[in-house]
Amino acid sequence: MSLARVETFALDGVEARHVWVEADIRRGLAAFNVVGLADKAVREARERVRAALVNSGFVFPQERITVNLAPAHLRKAGPGFDLPLAVALLAASDQLPPDAARGCAVLGELSLTGEVRAVRGVLAVAEGARRDRLERLLVPRSRAREAALVPELAVLGVEHLQEAVEVLRGDRAPAPLPECAPQELLDAPDEPDLSDVRGHNGLIPALEVAAAGGHNLFLHGPPGTGKTMLARRLPSLLPPLTAPEAIEVTRLHSIAGLHGGALVRRRPFRSPHHTISASGLVGGGGMPTPGEATLAHHGVLFLDELSEFARPALEALRQPLEDGRVTIARGQRVMVFPTRVTLVAASNPCPCGMGESTCRCSAADLARHRRRLSGPLLDRIDVSVTVGRPSGAALRSQAAPPSAIVRERIVAARERQTARLARHGLTCNAQLDARLLRELSGATADAHRALYALHDRNRLSARGHGRILRVARTLADLAGSDAVRPDHIHQAAALRLDDQALALAA
Ligand SMILES: Nc1ncnc2c1ncn2[C@@H]1O[C@H](COP(=O)(O)OP(=O)(O)OP(=O)(O)O)[C@@H](O)[C@H]1O
Ligand SMILES: [Mg+2]
Repeated sequence: MSLARVETFALDGVEARHVWVEADIRRGLAAFNVVGLADKAVREARERVRAALVNSGFVFPQERITVNLAPAHLRKAGPGFDLPLAVALLAASDQLPPDAARGCAVLGELSLTGEVRAVRGVLAVAEGARRDRLERLLVPRSRAREAALVPELAVLGVEHLQEAVEVLRGDRAPAPLPECAPQELLDAPDEPDLSDVRGHNGLIPALEVAAAGGHNLFLHGPPGTGKTMLARRLPSLLPPLTAPEAIEVTRLHSIAGLHGGALVRRRPFRSPHHTISASGLVGGGGMPTPGEATLAHHGVLFLDELSEFARPALEALRQPLEDGRVTIARGQRVMVFPTRVTLVAASNPCPCGMGESTCRCSAADLARHRRRLSGPLLDRIDVSVTVGRPSGAALRSQAAPPSAIVRERIVAARERQTARLARHGLTCNAQLDARLLRELSGATADAHRALYALHDRNRLSARGHGRILRVARTLADLAGSDAVRPDHIHQAAALRLDDQALALAA
């Protein structure tokens, strides 16, 4: 009769929560039970652990085994409990010294032959281990570099249960961290480039402002003019992730199983299909999982064919866009998912796409289109661009500059913003709240006067007022100016979604 405990972590939304795996072996009829709010994958761990132990040359105790996952109120999901469970059983059956795994969190899936397989969320677990003052973390080798992004934590990467036991016993030194694959260091090798776009050079300043300040962008115009093409080239213009942003994006993408094993360096670009549900967009479900807005955190959320998205999905996006996070309540618990995104939306002027003179749409189609477009999201648009039909001559002779050239200006403008905002934990002008905007806008008295004059003339809402000032701040940053002057205000106002664009959508 014996008892052993091993530490691990369960993913709860985008957090890792500490879990004890307690194994109790006592004489009696052979049985193997797992208790403690485990899902199906965790209950199935019994079969994998049994086979993995036997096939790795260990003894599977033919006695009464009870495994408890504590705390019992926390739901545990996924196969990552296999390895801690196997280690706890080995310790409880004297095949491993009782203190071999002391101060060491253990995480990994097992195959029937005892191989240790990759699991999701390793970075979140490593952060949890560090927070809870554990010294070591035993993980699948292919995820060791991900875990090692967290400082002051000894990462033990293993490929097999046998190896895990030898490393925990101290009979074998842990393998050095795997090398970074060369393609991971390359900066976006096959990303589409702005220079593919022809006849739209007049639109580039607007794209530049949106990319530099992280402002929401709306592209509208007839079919086949390059709206989708331009949106897909936006990532090539964005400044690289800062170090803390990169860690945050890596944690979220690892939890979602999108990416694992290395640091994400590129800003996310998510382009969900218009059939997506509200919970697919902002997160949800019984065991809440992050939605597209969270997967696009610190990057771009692209809604192509905006008017085709279901109204409830667009409604659900309103508050997350404003707050930079979404809060999901489940029973007693509340989860917070980050959603700091640049929204990029594209739409045709009407369902048939022909616009004004040649439009064949019915009145009902048009009404529906307009309802969707002019509704919740367009009020959050800072930069609106009409993508017209370029002339034949422009199409033939006018090519946009390469992304790398345009990006230089954008990166310089973003660096000015980050220098000003870093002590507030922000990186770009789009993230400024009303109070900070007042404090840090740098608008001259004349610029304020110009803004209020616009206010009176255009009946701007208070939100519109702030949005113009943020974009004006970015225009000043692009021009290398500390002060926001009246011309910046006027340019920013011109970039806003105007009545003409809304009429186009009518
Ligand atoms: N300005 C352009 N320069 C170069 N190629 C273009 C341009 N506009 C369109 N194209 C070509 O046409 C294709 C379709 O363009 P795109 O998908 O961007 O149109 P769109 O405006 O999104 O149309 P829709 O409203 O039907 O979605 C592109 O893949 C590209 O090959
Ligand atoms: Mg398109």
